[in-house]
Parts: sequence; C-alpha cells; structure tokens
Amino acid sequence: MTNTKPPAVEIDAITKSYGETTAIRGVSMDVRDGEFVTILGPSGCGKSTLLRMISGFAEPTTGDVRIGGKSVVGLAPYKRDTAMVFQDYALFPHRTIAENIAFGLRMRKVERAEIARRVDEMLALINLSGYGGRRVSEISGGQAQRVALGRALVVRPSVLLLDEPLGALDMKLRKQMQAELKKIHRELGLTFVAVTHDQEEALTLSDRIAVMNAGSVEQFADPETLYRRPATRFVADFVGGANLIDAEVGPAGALLFHGLPLSGIASDAVKDRAIGDKVSLVVRPECVTTSALGSQAPGPAIEAMVTEVLFSGAVQQIVGRLADGSLFVAHEQGLKPPPERGSTVLFHWDGSLSWLVAR
Ligand SMILES: Nc1ncnc2c1ncn2[C@@H]1O[C@H](COP(=O)(O)OP(=O)(O)OP(=O)(O)O)[C@@H](O)[C@H]1O
Ligand SMILES: [Mg+2]
Repeated sequence: MTNTKPPAVEIDAITKSYGETTAIRGVSMDVRDGEFVTILGPSGCGKSTLLRMISGFAEPTTGDVRIGGKSVVGLAPYKRDTAMVFQDYALFPHRTIAENIAFGLRMRKVERAEIARRVDEMLALINLSGYGGRRVSEISGGQAQRVALGRALVVRPSVLLLDEPLGALDMKLRKQMQAELKKIHRELGLTFVAVTHDQEEALTLSDRIAVMNAGSVEQFADPETLYRRPATRFVADFVGGANLIDAEVGPAGALLFHGLPLSGIASDAVKDRAIGDKVSLVVRPECVTTSALGSQAPGPAIEAMVTEVLFSGAVQQIVGRLADGSLFVAHEQGLKPPPERGSTVLFHWDGSLSWLVAR
C-alpha cells in the first residue's frame, strides 16, 4: 500500500464522435488532487464535450474516464463525485435562492435540519447571507452566478466542473468573480476543472492549462511554461499574443527569414532541427525594443517599417511591417520618443526570450 492519492481525474485516450463529427480526437490528461485546471481553446474545439464526459452528461466513444482512481464510464452524473456549474447557470427562476442551493441535497435525501445548516453555511461562503428567501428572478447576474456555484458546492463534490462560469458577466464583475473563485478554491481545497475561451482568465486562475485545438490538447502545462515555452504555433498565438516570424532552418545554424539569415540568432536555437524545416520564432511584444537602423543590437534583430505608434501612458505600442508583409509589435516603456510612422527601424530582443516552434 502506498498513500499517494490517485489523480482526481484521469482522462485516458478519449475520443468522441457525433455521427460524422469527431469532437474529441484522442485526449489523455490527468488532473491532480486539489488542482485548478482550465481547458482553454476557441469556440467549437471540444471543451464542453470534454467537461461533459467528466461529469457524465456525455459518454466517450472510446477511452476511459476515472475519478479518484475508479472508472466512471456509464455512471449517471449524480453518482459521480463531481458537480457542474453550467454556463447559463440553469437555476430554477421561480424558486428561492435557498431552495436552489438545497436542490442537490434533497436529491440525495439529506435530512431537513442538515440541509438548512448546509444551505446557511453555503450562503455565507458565496457572500449571500440573508438572501436565502429571495427568488432567483430578483437577483443580479453576479449573484445568480454565485448561487449556481453554491448549488454545485453544497453537495461537497471532490471535483467541481465549471463550464464558462463567468461568461455571462461584464468585465468588472468577471474580474471580481475570478478573485472569488480563486479564494473558494484555496479555502475548500477541491479539484476544479474549468472551461474558458478567455486566455487571460485561464492564466489568472489556473495551476495548469490544457490548450485545445480542433478536438486535441496541444499542450497541458502551467501558465508560465505555456507563455514562455509554447509547444506549438497555435499555443503561442492563442495564449498571450505573440509575434511569429515564419522562417526556415538554413545551413550552419542559420534561421532564414524571407531568404536572408536573421541576425543575432544563437546557433543552438535551431539545434535538433533539419535544414529546410519550416519554423516560427515566437517573440513576445514586451520583450521587444526599437532602435535606429544601423545601430548595434546585442541580440536578434529584424528590420520593419513602422506602420502604427499607439501611446497609452506607461507603454507605447509600436507596430512594424516585416519584409514578408507580416506585422511585428513592440510594447516599449514610454521612456523615450517612439520612432516615426513610416520610418524603417530595427526591432530587437534578448535571444533567450524568444522560442522556436514548428510550423
Ligand atoms: N450533441 C452534439 N451533437 C452533435 N455535435 C455536437 C454535439 N455537441 C457538440 N458537438 C460538436 O462537437 C464540437 C465540439 O463542441 P463543444 O461544444 O465541445 O465545443 P466548445 O469548445 O465547448 O465550444 P464553445 O466555446 O463554443 O462552447 C463542435 O463541432 C460541435 O458542433
Ligand atoms: Mg462550450
């Protein structure tokens, strides 16, 4: 016997087809006990489908789902140790907040006094003490969101599943609820698996993020790794906004852009790649500085014609057009005058901060 806990959720080689449509194409991932994991990806990539297979609202075509080490395939949602917060909340509008929160406990035949006690406890946790008697139709969107959260948490699941839980809220409320979700996760120590298409939200909330594209997980990693060391061009582009220089590996460790070697690229940047490989160099805008043409850049540098200069106080955004017509953006501290629009300048960066991905 070992006392290492099994992963809270194990998704094992799952595929899911709806007739001709393949929604999930072979996904495997483990969620550790107590982790906050987010599934991130564009609309239609399969995020909700994946979440539904954990909750039991959908079954995989092939593969296995285990919760706490036990296979749950074929098991009804309420028999799994999970609870789900739906994007549209799915509350009972004409019932009171207390009745909505009590719902899952009634289903599980918890005794009355215990229900009352746990509902009160939950109202306090979601900051709605004293609101138990109000009807759902009489509360705000942010309050309804918290009721949906309370209704799921009250059954004390090991794993809480959240499908775009903050999708219906305005920006300000969203930020506030993000902080509350994070706090509740920390205080309860449960495993959270959330779905979002908002990369900033995913970066803010998660211990790890699974980035999905067209039914596959392209990378499953912590936010910093995703940002600094994206595994694919898609991840680089989807998470955080990146400059992508489409290049080709040339002889002697050169990186050819538009037929010419990019200057300042360390030869070990292209190790493990073959001559002729098509690659993209990922450069985050905040790593980039501009200098006059002809100045000595310490690291990699590329010429661009300045098409736009946007000043926003602390940071100025300088947009340049590269030789191949693609755009390249620098976010510079607004400490020096920006280059003039229409001029050609050098965009340069610290080579240890850029990163090569296959194209
Ligand atoms: N019940 C269903 N029947 C047929 N096709 C479905 C069904 N549910 C989902 N799909 C298809 O599976 C794919 C993935 O859908 P899913 O709802 O998982 O996407 P999503 O990533 O959650 O998107 P969104 O961000 O828009 O919610 C889509 O092509 C969708 O049309
Ligand atoms: Mg969805």
